[in-house]
Amino acid sequence: MNKSVLMVGSGAYLPEKILTNDDLATFVDTDDGWIKQRTGIAQRHIVADGELTSDLAYNAAINALENANMTADDIDVIVLATTTPDDTFPATAAQVQNRLGAYNAFAFDVQAVCAGFVYALTVAESLLLANKGRRALVIGAESFSKLLDWEDRTTCVLFGDGAGAVILEASDDAQNYGILSSALYTDGRHRDILYVDGGPSKTGSVGHVRMKGQDVFRHAVEKLASSMYAVIEQAGVSETEIDWLIPHQANLRIIDGMQKKLGLPADRVVRTVSEHANTSAASIPLALNQAVSDGRVKSGHLLAFEAIGGGLSWGAALVRYGRP
Ligand code: ACO
Repeated sequence: MNKSVLMVGSGAYLPEKILTNDDLATFVDTDDGWIKQRTGIAQRHIVADGELTSDLAYNAAINALENANMTADDIDVIVLATTTPDDTFPATAAQVQNRLGAYNAFAFDVQAVCAGFVYALTVAESLLLANKGRRALVIGAESFSKLLDWEDRTTCVLFGDGAGAVILEASDDAQNYGILSSALYTDGRHRDILYVDGGPSKTGSVGHVRMKGQDVFRHAVEKLASSMYAVIEQAGVSETEIDWLIPHQANLRIIDGMQKKLGLPADRVVRTVSEHANTSAASIPLALNQAVSDGRVKSGHLLAFEAIGGGLSWGAALVRYGRP
């Protein structure tokens, strides 16, 4: 019998502090109208002084464990997707493991920027399919505000902080549930359209996000669509069977472009970009948890995830949520 990897719970955490577009306009040359019209973003959450990525990740993990009726002891693997680790090393996942007391689990970080959650999901699935554990905690957590140049209006208005988490469980008896397909891609030739101008081996500093927005936009819809078609074909389903498209939340225009390309009704897309902005690796699990919490996503629903970010790295996954 084939093993499946189920997605059996989700959780999320957002820092308390909210920065609206009007707040931003008090110190950058921008305005609410421009930001909303070009991106759909109205506000973003920002970490407090001293609040770390591991704090966000820990809170999202606790929430996911509670929602799945599990304890930290139940977890065998922790994979944390982040571009904004607490420290250069050790992995932020190791800090989260310690705070959770999840000492049965091995833990490590994955770095694929905005595509991080789809990467972490696929890595965790592969580990469970290879019998390296039965349950995995997959977290996307970012303090992306720490990478922003607050004088660069072309980037600082786009991002926010937060964390989301899911719990995966291997099962021998759940055909057609769980992760049905996934696909990952990278093209390092496009490094210069989205990067951070710092790093341990290059400058010894953290650096700031630099982006050619229109070039990123051009790649986004085309690459997201082709990765989505790949996972649809792999899973042997049709796009009309997708109950919820839960995309990376970078820009409403990219999200709506994908919805139209896939021919999905507008009300089958989960959109959180207005409240959260782009939280990089955290955006998909944050959006998922919102839709699970408000009752839109139910057990048995077919979910489509897709994301693209720096690298360029991108990917997609199809998941039938919950347990049979
Ligand atoms: N407020 C006001 N004006 C602004 C701002 C701002 N925050 N930012 C730029 N402008 C100005 C520009 O200076 C320019 O002025 P000019 O015409 O006088 O030179 C004008 O607005 C138009 O700028 P463009 O860059 O052409 O605006 P565009 O319509 O391309 O929108 C945006 C920019 C929103 C960044 C868009 O290109 C985009 O969404 N790209 C995708 C990038 C993205 O989502 N990156 C996130 C990381 S990757 C990912 O997660 C997918």
